[in-house]
This record gives sequence, C-alpha cells and structure tokens, in this order.
Amino acid sequence: MARPLPPILRCPWPVAAVDPPPGVAEPLARAIEVLKRGGLVAIPTETVYGLAADALDEEAVAAIFRAKGRPSSNPLIVHVADVAMARGLAASWPAAAEAVAARLWPGPVTVVVPRGPRIPDSVTAGGDTVALRCPDHPLTRRLIAESGIPLAAPSANRSEAVSPTTAHHVLEGLGNRIDLILDGGPCTQGIESTVVDCTTTPPRILRPGPLSRAALEAAVGGPVAWPDAAPAAGPARSPGQLARHYAPRTPLELARDSAGRVATLVGEGKRLGWLTSRTDDPEVRRLAATSRDLLIVPMPERADAFAARLYATLHALDQRQLDRIVVDEPPDTEAWRAVRDRLHRAATR
Ligand code: TXA
Ligand code: MG
Repeated sequence: MARPLPPILRCPWPVAAVDPPPGVAEPLARAIEVLKRGGLVAIPTETVYGLAADALDEEAVAAIFRAKGRPSSNPLIVHVADVAMARGLAASWPAAAEAVAARLWPGPVTVVVPRGPRIPDSVTAGGDTVALRCPDHPLTRRLIAESGIPLAAPSANRSEAVSPTTAHHVLEGLGNRIDLILDGGPCTQGIESTVVDCTTTPPRILRPGPLSRAALEAAVGGPVAWPDAAPAAGPARSPGQLARHYAPRTPLELARDSAGRVATLVGEGKRLGWLTSRTDDPEVRRLAATSRDLLIVPMPERADAFAARLYATLHALDQRQLDRIVVDEPPDTEAWRAVRDRLHRAATR
C-alpha cells in the first residue's frame, strides 16, 4: 500500500532564542507522538539532517535500517540532550569522552565509548561500543530533552547517497519511507560530525569532520590519532567508512589540473558541472564563455565554508542531467581533511 508523503513541519528558531518560540510547540508534540509509537522523524542538526527513532526500541531502530536500505553491519549514532544522558547510555565513561563532551558539546563531534546495557544490539551492529553525540541544534536538543528519548539517527538519506542539509533534500531522498520531517532550516556545518574513538589511548579519529584534530587535542590535553591509513583485516573499526559513500548519482571526479580536464571533457561534448574557487582565473572565464554545456559553480576558498555548501551543491547538480561533475582537488592540508575525505568517497566507483 502506498504511504503518504510525510508532512514537513516548519520550526523556525531564532539564533538568540533560549526558550522554544511559540510555533514549535505543536511540531515538537507531534514528533514526540511519532517517536513514542516507534515511528521515524527526520531531525535538523548543525551537521546534516538525521533520520531519528527511539534508540532503545529495537523495532524502531530496525525501521531506520529498512528506510535507508542500510546494511545492518553499520552502527548508528545515538543523539543525547546532554552529558548526563550520554553517561546513562555508556558502560563506562572514559576521561577522553568526558573532556570532549564537557568542552565541545553541543557540537559536531561524536564519541565512541563502551556500550551500556540499555542499548539494543541493532544500534551498535552487535559491537561492544556505542557512538554518542549531543547536536548543536536547539530544536533537536529540545525534542530529546522533552521526550526523554535518546535518538538513534544516521544521516537522513538512502544508504550511500549524499547526506541531506535541508528538509527538502530529506523529502527528495526518503519521501514516503518516513513519518515526519522537522524543518529547522539549512544545516550550518554541512558535513557529518567528527567521530572519535575514546576507548583507546590515545583517542583516535575514525571519521574526520567539522571539528579539527587540533580542537580535540586541546580538549583532551594530549595527542589524538588520525584513522589507520590501511584498515586492518577483519570487521572495520568504523564500519560506515566504506570506500564508496556520500556519492551523487552523477559521476564525480577530482582534478588537479581542473581547467585542462574540463577543456578535454567539454571537447568530448560532455555536459559538465564544475566546482571551483578559481572563478577569477582567465582560463576559467574563457571556458565559461566558450561552452554552453558547462555549469560553473563558484565555491568558497575556506574549507569550512566549502563544507557548508558542498552537499547542497551536489544535490542541486544531481537534478541537472549532467554527464560529469568535476571538482578542483583541494589542498592536502589538515584544514581540508574532512572535505577531502568526503570528496574522495564521492569519487570512488
Ligand atoms: O553528523 C552526524 O554524525 C550525522 C548527524 C545526523 O548527527 N549522523 C551521521 O550518521 O553521520 P551516519 O550513520 O551517517 O554515520 C555514523 C558513523 C558511521 O561512520 C558509523 O560507522 C560510525 O558513525 N559509528 C557508529 N557507531 C559506531 C561505533 N560504535 N564504533 C565506531 N563507529 C561507529
Ligand atoms: Mg550517512
């Protein structure tokens, strides 16, 4: 039986407002009702939209995996309202987790800690650790605090697709597979949280993200390791780190000499989207002026601003029936690490 499309409930929350603005009480009440009966609610966060269900309800968690088409071997992040809620879901609370949570939450960083007994197997993919995060979005924190429900929430997209940074992206990607969408505006960070394993010494970054290694090291007061270069054989430590992930439907490639590459592809008659920050470059201008099948998307020169726009740009280009998306290869520096990680995955076929 065809299910209806989920309602999108607008929940504007001015940055300065501490208490919920009047318009959000009803959407929050409806979301809580859906969560209590085991349903799926898309929620805004500062990174990307999440597809949320009650993390302590095994059936509801199973519904997340079905809606996304996600392999059950890929564990979920549990979203909490505060540090106290996080501690209640962990079997123990390592010093590194305390340091990160106390100094950097709410914020775009997820801690992996020993899993407490209340967390169902499906959330952790059977593993003995659980990933916890307190998102920096007032609406979603309010939803968790008011309901008292910790929310298991992967990004609100079909498995392997580009993560959503607006409520509209969620509707396009998941449509009638879910029950409700809370629209809290566009995500400010635009890429998924940094995931840090706090069960090892030193703590290790499993997924680079908006929060830098330097910020983590300052918080824990010691070294933090990067992911293993070549993952060891056996079950992956962060199983979501599959090579191909976050990919648009349109084939995407990274290019060092992007102008040369674009000229070649244009010469072959390809319809192209080109993400570049070199819009003042005469060669870029020349190409723009000479080819009708070339769509140039000017991108910011700073990594954080680039990240904030990346997924929305890929979603938009995916609607344009292009043959290829070409992206300038970003510099190989720490500031660009998370963006490079996402782009390399998007380019892997
Ligand atoms: O910013 C974010 O983290 C977003 C928003 C919605 O909060 N969520 C998100 O979820 O990106 P997802 O499911 O797309 O990515 C979760 C990542 C995966 O790489 C997964 O493998 C890893 O976290 N992860 C989850 N539990 C883990 C665990 N116990 N140990 C290691 N990695 C874990
Ligand atoms: Mg995801």
